[in-house]
Amino acid sequence: MERREFLKTGFLVSTAAIVSRRAVFGPAADSHIEILLNEPIGTISPNIYGHFAEHLGGVIYDGIWVGEDSKVPNTHGIRTALIEALRRIHAPVVRWPGGCFADSYDWKDGIGPRNQRPRRTNFWAGAREAKQLKGVQQFESNAFGTSDFVRFCRLSGAEPYIAVNLRSLPALDFDHWVEYCNSPAGSTALGDQRARDGFPEPFGVRYWGVGNESWGCGGNFLPEDYATEFRRFTTWVPGYEVELALVASGSNAEDLDWTRRFFEELLGRRRYFPQSWWGWSIHHYAENLARGRTNDWMARKGDALQFDPVDYYELLHEADRMENIVLEHWSAMGQFDRQHRIKLVVDEYGPWYKSGSEVDPTHLLGQQITMRDAIATALTLDTFNRHAEKVGMAACAQLINCLNSLFLAHQDRFIVTPNYHVFQMYAAHQSGQALRTEFSAPEVTYDRDGKPTHFWGLRGSASLQNKTLVLTVVNPHLEQARETEIAVRGASLSSGTAAVLTASDVHAHNTFDQPEVVRTKEAAVQVERDGSSHFTFPTASVTRLTFALR
Ligand code: AHR
Repeated sequence: MERREFLKTGFLVSTAAIVSRRAVFGPAADSHIEILLNEPIGTISPNIYGHFAEHLGGVIYDGIWVGEDSKVPNTHGIRTALIEALRRIHAPVVRWPGGCFADSYDWKDGIGPRNQRPRRTNFWAGAREAKQLKGVQQFESNAFGTSDFVRFCRLSGAEPYIAVNLRSLPALDFDHWVEYCNSPAGSTALGDQRARDGFPEPFGVRYWGVGNESWGCGGNFLPEDYATEFRRFTTWVPGYEVELALVASGSNAEDLDWTRRFFEELLGRRRYFPQSWWGWSIHHYAENLARGRTNDWMARKGDALQFDPVDYYELLHEADRMENIVLEHWSAMGQFDRQHRIKLVVDEYGPWYKSGSEVDPTHLLGQQITMRDAIATALTLDTFNRHAEKVGMAACAQLINCLNSLFLAHQDRFIVTPNYHVFQMYAAHQSGQALRTEFSAPEVTYDRDGKPTHFWGLRGSASLQNKTLVLTVVNPHLEQARETEIAVRGASLSSGTAAVLTASDVHAHNTFDQPEVVRTKEAAVQVERDGSSHFTFPTASVTRLTFALR
């Protein structure tokens, strides 16, 4: 089965370089990191650290929304523990309501008095696991609508990013949704409706996605057809004093054909550049662990908890495809958008496993999150940081009770996953100046069905803010710690601290009964008299080093 079908229903350094660097650093360490202070890449948008929440399984209901009358501590029906945790990691933006759900969602169903909102069939009702469920996973209650979402964002300190239905609603509905969110009360009927819903002040929603996966569940369009729809949807959208930032529905992973043909049609043939167009969305899930045995979208998935070392490295390889995905799409876009006005918006990413490890059967596409996933997430965030001038926004899929979640919750139980700790560590990069950084370390080599296969030894990203340098590093090796010398070209280090996320076993994960199996620990950092530093990166770890510069 193809993914399209499934969704319908329902760094290497040469030996010479290592040798010359050894001459600079000395022989003690097997690995080296050099941060080039004079080679800034761009400012890291806080929005790279965004999240995604879809009306799917346990994400909204049971995850975010518990209801105003719930015994679960809540703020206007929203799980308070989640709000507080999101504030701690400075969550910048949340994408909603989907995903595939977005293109079957009528936003008008989710406004007005809660008890008068209609019940509808959820997009995911056809999913195999949903068929035996009778609740909101199948029949959407619309208890959580636009004002609830915006309230959730405000309470969490995040900006809303709304995905618009392009497949099954007309463009006028998009205009009206913007009107409901952004027009002043007293000026339009929809502005008044928002005031009646409890919000006299406009929401000021800036980010709008025009469709979702329009090559698949969002309408099965050809790129040229989607370009026509995109023109229709973006030709006139009133902003109400808000500088709108519209995101076009871009490609799946390495599908450069979708990118090229859309840009060619819109900018080449039509010579049309919508004024508010800001982003090009890309989705990439690390999900194919079949090693060529099958290409079936379902059958090729691995298990979230049962995996061997080869599965572990293969998953990291899958996640690491992001590097080329970013580079290739950016280059294809640049052929038509020569000034690179359009930024990449990676609004769905993360590992995706087969079902079976979800904390409750109602959590469709729910899965446990191990130390392996924390490493995959960290290397992805490092990739975004290294391409700070290209990636304007990203959203981890999905926030809670779903694929690559930061949180797992069921009723009154709530825990953070290893991914939460990654986001907490990496928040220090937000708004920093990304710096080019060179990593040299012995590669990982593993046996992939009789063939020696390689993966990089150490990688990460660095950023500078005021005189504080943040360096995040992934050591993927399952058996070897990396004794590493760290130097900054253009400055000297004066002091440093470390936060390390690792576990004795990469299968380690947090559960409701044992919520702190995987958590960040502080470690000492050695800074030498010459202004360099030494640090040993543990096996299978994610580390954040924070240095003060002299
Ligand atoms: O995140 C789950 C689904 O994956 C989303 O709904 C869709 O956009 C993607 O295919």
